[in-house]
Parts: sequence; C-alpha cells; structure tokens
Amino acid sequence: EITKGINGLEKVILRETHGSSVEVYLYGAHVTSWKNEHNEEMLFVSSKAIFKPPKPIRGGIPICFPQFSNLGLLEAHGFARNRLWTIEADPPPFPSNVNDRVFVDLLLKPTEEDMKIWPHSFEYRLRITLGPGGDLMLISRIRNTNADAKPFTFTFAYHTYFSVSDISEVRVEGLETLDYLDNTKNRERYTEQGDAITFESEIDKIYLSTPTKIAVLDHEKKRTFVIRKEGLPDAVVWNPWDKKAKTMADFGDEEYKQMLCVEAAAIEKPVTLKPGEEWKVRLELSAVPSSYFSGQ
Ligand code: BG6
Repeated sequence: EITKGINGLEKVILRETHGSSVEVYLYGAHVTSWKNEHNEEMLFVSSKAIFKPPKPIRGGIPICFPQFSNLGLLEAHGFARNRLWTIEADPPPFPSNVNDRVFVDLLLKPTEEDMKIWPHSFEYRLRITLGPGGDLMLISRIRNTNADAKPFTFTFAYHTYFSVSDISEVRVEGLETLDYLDNTKNRERYTEQGDAITFESEIDKIYLSTPTKIAVLDHEKKRTFVIRKEGLPDAVVWNPWDKKAKTMADFGDEEYKQMLCVEAAAIEKPVTLKPGEEWKVRLELSAVPSSYFSGQ
C-alpha cells in the first residue's frame, strides 16, 4: 500500500496477516514505524522530527551510505538517507526465500548531481520485509556499476533508533569485553569491561568485530530486541543524553530517555567494490517478551 505521509511525502505500508506492520518513506528508504501484532511501536521517532528534504528524518532506521558519520568528505552519514528512492517492481532475484513474508523493494541510483559529490555509479537495492512473527528484515545489495575500471570504497550503517521505556532501565548484551572507538574522544580505541552495557550519560561508541547477535533488554517494558546481522562487523551505540539533546533542533530535550540507537555497521574496515561487484548484507530485528530470552 502506497499512501501520502507527512508533508505529502510518499510512504509504503506493509502489513502482515497477524497484524504487525512497517512504514517506509521513499524519502531516504527510511523505516519510520515498526509495530507488533498488538499495535505497539518498536522504533523511536522524535516528536520534533522534520519530514522535509534535505533534512534527514530523526528516528526510525536511517540508512548511512556511502559514509558513516563525518569519517570522509561527504555530509554526515552520507546522502542515501536524504534522497528520494524508487520502488522497484521487478528486482533481480534475491536468493533468500520470502514466500511467507511481505516485502517492498527500493532502489537508489545516483543522479548527475550526486556524482559530482561522490563520482561513482552504483545501484543500491534495499528489500524491507516483515515475517509472520513480526520480525523486520532489511537486506541491502550495493553494486558498483562504474563503466570504467574504478573501484569505490564506502562505510555503512543501519542507524536503528529503538523505542525504550526508560534508558536507565536498559541494558545491551553482546558487546561486553569488545574493543570500541569512542566518538566522544576523537575515536580513541578502548576495551569494554566485562558487564552488559548500561546507560547513565552520553554514549557514542563504535564497537568492533561484534557478534552476529546483540540484545537490547528493556527491563521496564519486559521486552527484548534481538538484533541479528550478516556482513556487518561493527555496532554503533548512541544516545545523545541531555546536553547534546538540547543542541539538536529536531530532537526533544527529554527524548533521550525514550530511545537508544544500536546500529549494525561496516566502519572500521571500509568496503571496496570493483566494477560489477555486489555487497550484500542483512539486518534482522525481532522483539520478544523478555521471559522468552535466554538468561532472563
Ligand atoms: C551516530 C553517530 O551514529 O549518529 C553520532 O555515532 C551522531 O556521532 C548520531 O551524533 C546522529 O547523527 P545525525 O547526523 O543523524 O545527527
């Protein structure tokens, strides 16, 4: 189903027979809502989010490509999140079986203007798909379509904003004892201590060589988000906390209490694609009652 969203921007709504749903804006191929079968929202979107190009939408799942953060010369987090994507009716076949899933396929190709700021031809195909259990999967395929022999290199993140009831009651499992780069300290490298990660101040860390499964436990809601990822070795954990929140025009002063970003990413080792080569990665999110999760 395609409908008009905020400010007339087009969005696609996927509904799964058991009642879960997903909303995706073509602007940024940006998932702005993921609801379970009880109509509960799993993603955070700021009440101050600006749905107006070229401003990226604050919340949901922005796609950071071809640059994570300000690691290169492009605008922060690259330009995929503030371009208009198109729906692809008949994409090249995906190997994965999607028989029992609803999905939409989106496509981004650079315009001539884009090629002036990043001189590479590519096709970025994103399949967004909802499974019968309400799990949300994002499969990205990025192909180098340069006509000359030029390879290109990029960094990437699925910048997922989870909705949580109270950040001080949340912990993240799967990142303990790992090395990370601290974005608040010139990306110096540190090693995380042995305990699950909890939150009491600003955090902006790039965890390196992370496991394929990470869990975000929301104690108050008794809900656990399970993040499964393929081909994405790094994981960014971000919460701006109070001081930084006040500097962000599209983010409420107190909203940091209700969100946590855990972003499946490829940052430390940038990806290089030769012409004709394709990079394929996937993110799978599920939300389960905490009692279902081992160790709870
Ligand atoms: C995170 C970065 O991924 O995104 C942070 O690690 C950054 O440093 C945050 O502040 C938000 O970025 P933006 O461009 O959406 O305000």
